[in-house]
Amino acid sequence: MRVLVLGGTTEARQLYTLLERHAARFDTTVSLAGVTRAPVLPALAVRIGGFGGADGLRDWLLAHRIDAVVDATHPFATQISGNAVRACAAAHVSLLRVERPGWAPTPDDRWTLVPDMQAAARALGAKPRRVLLTVGRKDLLPFAGAGAHDWLLRSVDHPDASLLPPGCRVLLARGPFAEAEEEVLLRRERIDVIVTKNSGGSATRAKLAAARRLGVAVIMVARPPVACAHTVADTLAAMAWLDGLYAHGAATLREV
Ligand SMILES: NC(=O)c1ccc[n+]([C@@H]2O[C@H](COP(=O)([O-])OP(=O)(O)OC[C@H]3O[C@@H](n4cnc5c(N)ncnc54)[C@H](OP(=O)(O)O)[C@@H]3O)[C@@H](O)[C@H]2O)c1
Repeated sequence: MRVLVLGGTTEARQLYTLLERHAARFDTTVSLAGVTRAPVLPALAVRIGGFGGADGLRDWLLAHRIDAVVDATHPFATQISGNAVRACAAAHVSLLRVERPGWAPTPDDRWTLVPDMQAAARALGAKPRRVLLTVGRKDLLPFAGAGAHDWLLRSVDHPDASLLPPGCRVLLARGPFAEAEEEVLLRRERIDVIVTKNSGGSATRAKLAAARRLGVAVIMVARPPVACAHTVADTLAAMAWLDGLYAHGAATLREV
């Protein structure tokens, strides 16, 4: 069975590991956007870069006779996920989305929930604060004019300097992060507010626990909606879905 995994997340990497073990049944291609300079690559066929919108993805699926697509992209990667819905419908290819559950606040958290990055920038207010930005390079623009804060951006790769808020320092780091090291960072930098997307998952959750312990405020950007008919929360459920399709395909072949 020919499978395309749209990747770029921890869940996608977990799925590759399972699919590597089941190469006899699943002929898998992994697709990455090409935004990370040194991505972790699987021992599977890999293609890197955009498809050219929903039409380009549809054509790619047809040309490579793909049977199933697993969209394991990030909850905030809405463009590629929307394209996958349209392309799979047009090419009559089965589509599954893997979407890890979002984070939820506890009574001890000091979260401000906001709908998008613009609202996050406004929520910082006018009074100068020491801000830890844990958002993507694409998300920086609203913060450029957001006030005279002391900015620290944590990022996997260095963003273009023109995107950074004035005076912003950059800390290059790739998760997962442990709670103790997050606490050291928040203390050392005397952070009083963290801005983050509600990415969910465990790789970057430790900052929330550290913030809770130290009484640091969090501005939490809500997830944008993604319309996909079939969604599961983790990799094992995605593998079960693929197994089901494979078994169905094998049964259909036997009937023929
Ligand atoms: N957004 C985040 O916060 C975030 C966080 C961690 C990881 N990531 C990962 O980084 C990648 C890019 O995220 P994004 O938010 O920039 O995506 P996006 O806004 O949804 O997609 C922008 C364009 O990038 C291309 N693209 C995205 N993911 C792709 C993939 N896996 N394979 C091939 N092309 C892809 C597509 O180009 P075409 O239209 O030309 O096909 C898409 O239209 C995704 O794979 C995502 O899983 C994103």
